Amino acid sequence: MQQQQLCDTVLANDWHVVARSEDVTSEKPLAVKLLGEDIVLWRVGDQVCAWRDLCIHRGTRLSLGRIENETIICPYHGWTYNAEGRCVRIPAHPEQIPPSKARAKVYRATEKYGWVWVTLGETTQDVPIFEEWDDPSFRKIHCGPYTYKASGPRAVENFLDVAHFPFVHQGYLGDPIDPAINDYTAEITPEGVIARDISVWQPNPDGTGEGKRVHYTYKVPRPLSAYFMKTSTGPRFAMFFTVTPVSEQESIAWAYVAIDHTDQTDEEVREFQNIITLQDIPVVESQRPELLPLDLQAELHLRSDRTSIAYRKWLRQLGLSFGTA
Ligand code: FES
Ligand code: CO
Repeated sequence: MQQQQLCDTVLANDWHVVARSEDVTSEKPLAVKLLGEDIVLWRVGDQVCAWRDLCIHRGTRLSLGRIENETIICPYHGWTYNAEGRCVRIPAHPEQIPPSKARAKVYRATEKYGWVWVTLGETTQDVPIFEEWDDPSFRKIHCGPYTYKASGPRAVENFLDVAHFPFVHQGYLGDPIDPAINDYTAEITPEGVIARDISVWQPNPDGTGEGKRVHYTYKVPRPLSAYFMKTSTGPRFAMFFTVTPVSEQESIAWAYVAIDHTDQTDEEVREFQNIITLQDIPVVESQRPELLPLDLQAELHLRSDRTSIAYRKWLRQLGLSFGTA
C-alpha cells in the first residue's frame, strides 16, 4: 500500500478531507487513514497537526497517546512531541536534549468547509471550490460521512451517473417509466470535467408532488471531488461531494447539500441523502473490477455515459493510478 501511495503522485499531491473540524480537538488524538497511510490528527489552538501516526522511537501509534500542554505524548515511553513535530522530551533521559532526528513525519493540513483537509505531498493548489459555501442565500447541510468498500474513483463515478436514478433510486430520483437521458455534453476543461444540461425525469423534485424533468450541471474539479447544481427552474439545489481514498478499495464520502429553500429541516435533507447513498453503496461495492478501468475498451459506453467517459479519460490524462486499473 505504501508503494502505491508513493506511485500516485496525483492523489498524494492533492488535498483530501480526513475529518470534520469539530472532531479534531486538543483533548484527544484522532486516528485516520489516507492513501494507505495511518495519520494522527490533533489540535493546538487554531492549528491542526496531521502526522504519520508513528512514534519514531519504536513505531507505536501516537494516536494512542495523550495531548498535554500543546504536546502529544507517546503511550509507550512517553516521548513528547511539540506542534512542529519535534521531540522535546525523552522521560528516560530527562537531562538529555532529544536528538534532532527525533521528529514526527508532519503533513500539511488546512481547514475549509468545516472539514480538515490533508495532503501527503506538495501542492500549490487550494482545496476545491464549493461555490455556494460563501453565499448566504444557501443553507448548507452536512451529509455523511459514508463508508464504501470500493475505490474512490468508483464512488465518484457513481455520483456523476444520472442514468441509474430511475433504477437504484426509483421513486426518489427517477422512475423506470421514463428512464431516458437526453443528449448532453461532457468535456475535459482546465478546471476538470464539466457536463452540462443533463436531464432526467423525477417524481417530486421540488417537493410539490409534481413530476418533471430536472436538469443538472456536473463539475469534477479534482479526481475525487465533484459537484452538481440543478439548473432547472424552481428551488436551487447543489451538492458538493468529496471522497477520501482511505486505501485502494476503501473510501469515505463527505458531502454538503446547498439549498435556497427552507421547507425541509436539515435532518430531513440529511435523511433523504442517507437513503439515496445507502441505495448506491451496495451497487458500487458490487462493481467489478474493483478498480475503475481507465481503458475505454474495458467496458461498454453509450451516449448517456458521456460524463463517466470524460471522467475516465481525464483521470488517464492526469496519470492517476490509485483506485484505477
Ligand atoms: Fe514512542 Fe517509545 S515508542 S516513546
Ligand atoms: Co445514486
